[in-house]
Amino acid sequence: MKPTVAPFPLARLRRARQSEAIRGLVRENTLTTDDLIWPVFVRDGEGVEEPVPSMPGVMRRSVDKIVEAAKEARDLGIPAICLFPYTDPALKTEDCAEAWNPDNLSNRATRAIKAQVPGIAVMTDVALDPYNINGHDGFVENGEVVNDRTVEALVKQTLSQAEAGADIIGPSDMMDGRIGAMRRALEEAGHDKVMILSYAAKYASAFYGPFRDAVGASGALKGDKKTYQQDPANSNEALRLIERDLQEGADMVMIKPGMPYLDICRRVKDTFGVPTFAYQVSGEYAMIQAASQNGWIDGEKAMVESLMSFKRAGCDGILTYFAPAVARLLRGN
Ligand code: PBG
Repeated sequence: MKPTVAPFPLARLRRARQSEAIRGLVRENTLTTDDLIWPVFVRDGEGVEEPVPSMPGVMRRSVDKIVEAAKEARDLGIPAICLFPYTDPALKTEDCAEAWNPDNLSNRATRAIKAQVPGIAVMTDVALDPYNINGHDGFVENGEVVNDRTVEALVKQTLSQAEAGADIIGPSDMMDGRIGAMRRALEEAGHDKVMILSYAAKYASAFYGPFRDAVGASGALKGDKKTYQQDPANSNEALRLIERDLQEGADMVMIKPGMPYLDICRRVKDTFGVPTFAYQVSGEYAMIQAASQNGWIDGEKAMVESLMSFKRAGCDGILTYFAPAVARLLRGN
């Protein structure tokens, strides 16, 4: 549809911007608490809330504190919480067996939330990096991240998360063929309601730095993730990845990072019309918080504007560390 406009002064586009009431009437997009998925970091211990220095306002929480956070999220109207484990370095191995341990941190947190806060959806992360001695998302053999053997492990990890009660499985590993393998395994095991939100278009990005600190993977990671995560220069490739993951049984897809990739969000939504999410990643969060703490930008306004940009770009929802802060703002408390 072509936008039409009468010649000046018949059309004065400023008429539509004259007051908050009129701006509200013509507003094209809205941000609500329904749009939010809150990523949180889990660590061991009890009663622990440990700040992540590179992500001001973000904590690593022990399972009991994660349950409290989930209650807070539910009370704020946030529909989903996404768990990332900070794994004890002693449990990181080459075979990554902790990833499918039924009693690992992520699974313990899932069970605790499902038992105590049934109203909130739990999303979990499928990838080997929190458990891998070398910090990669897949097994490393002779200096290479190998695909097919990694997929077998990811399937085990998926099943252990589904057993623990995860509602949404989030594969963030970027291996080929994992969505189909995970979907088949879930069906065979009777987990036909478990959803897959595929990190389908995930770029090899500098904006993940603070997250790697938060999960304790920075020190371990040797090299980069460019043989499995996408080249930031590519756009058509993202569409192929999304289409492939949908054909393999993904229920929802994600673009990651968020703000530098809004063009991809728009193309994906226009092309496929499926539930589309963006991840406003740790580096994006850290930039806004750092500038705000320095008094260089209004952090609250930048938060809302950045989240609105995802809605404008066609996203149905956003994974954001700002979830509780923006939910409080949207609810006026
Ligand atoms: C790794 C993973 C990463 C993030 C989520 N899962 C980092 C990476 O790929 O190195 C990043 C999230 C963020 O930066 O907030 N499986």
